[in-house]
Amino acid sequence: MSYAIEASGITHTFPDGQSPRVVLDSVDLRVAPGELVAIMGPSGSGKSTLLNIVAGLLEPEAGNVLVADTLLRSATTAERTILRRQAFGIVFQRNNLVDALTLEENVALPLELNGINPRIALKQARLILDDQGLGDVARLFPAQASGGQRQLTAVLAALSSKRHILLADEPTGALDTASGDEVMRLIRNHIDAGASGLLVTHSARDAAWADRVVYLQDGAISSDTGSSHSFGFPTSTQSSLSDFPTTDGTP
Ligand SMILES: Nc1ncnc2c1ncn2[C@@H]1O[C@H](COP(=O)(O)OP(=O)(O)OP(=O)(O)O)[C@@H](O)[C@H]1O
Ligand SMILES: [Mg+2]
Repeated sequence: MSYAIEASGITHTFPDGQSPRVVLDSVDLRVAPGELVAIMGPSGSGKSTLLNIVAGLLEPEAGNVLVADTLLRSATTAERTILRRQAFGIVFQRNNLVDALTLEENVALPLELNGINPRIALKQARLILDDQGLGDVARLFPAQASGGQRQLTAVLAALSSKRHILLADEPTGALDTASGDEVMRLIRNHIDAGASGLLVTHSARDAAWADRVVYLQDGAISSDTGSSHSFGFPTSTQSSLSDFPTTDGTP
């Protein structure tokens, strides 16, 4: 049985003045299919760095990442780009949206990258935003929207195309409690529909939605709540991402 995400011996150093700073020191992290793992830890403990490494955006100094059946170290730049376009839904800590596109165009973009006709993708994006109370601001550009509206849009864009690996870095940081809970409910539903993922968060409230919580401290995982998850997901009783109807009602 293979893992959805398997990071082994991840070591990474950043320059810090005269002496390099070891941010991640031989970190091992595995995510089972159908599992959402929360990563917590103090500011600067390397959470975003680890997420960027799993996303193939940063090459670790040592260690390997196997994600979506691809060994990132052996993948070409083009292969990694395809992986990000087809398999990953990513919510970055900041700069999530394309500034030159409206909110609805931002949500439509991953759908288009998945091969959906641009006109239909835009229609779906409008429905998705409407559902979350963002219908009135759908045609605004990110710079015209509030921080919370931008963040919710970024989450909706990452989830819209039903990709199998979700990598979310503090997806509720700019939201009030009620909106944060709603985002976590959307993320949980996405996972329960057959995805797997990593959720970086400072919020214990958000982490409670995860199957497992790991704490990063001083470059290493200092604790892991352990998996209560049954390996072997999905079962026949659970729906899959592809079973979900699209927002315009087409299968
Ligand atoms: N490109 C970079 N160049 C140099 N140092 C970096 C770079 N990116 C991150 N760092 C350093 O690596 C450490 C870990 O950063 P990272 O962003 O992974 O932390 P984090 O756990 O996500 O923190 P936060 O909770 O504040 O988002 C920090 O000390 C940061 O200054
Ligand atoms: Mg961070």
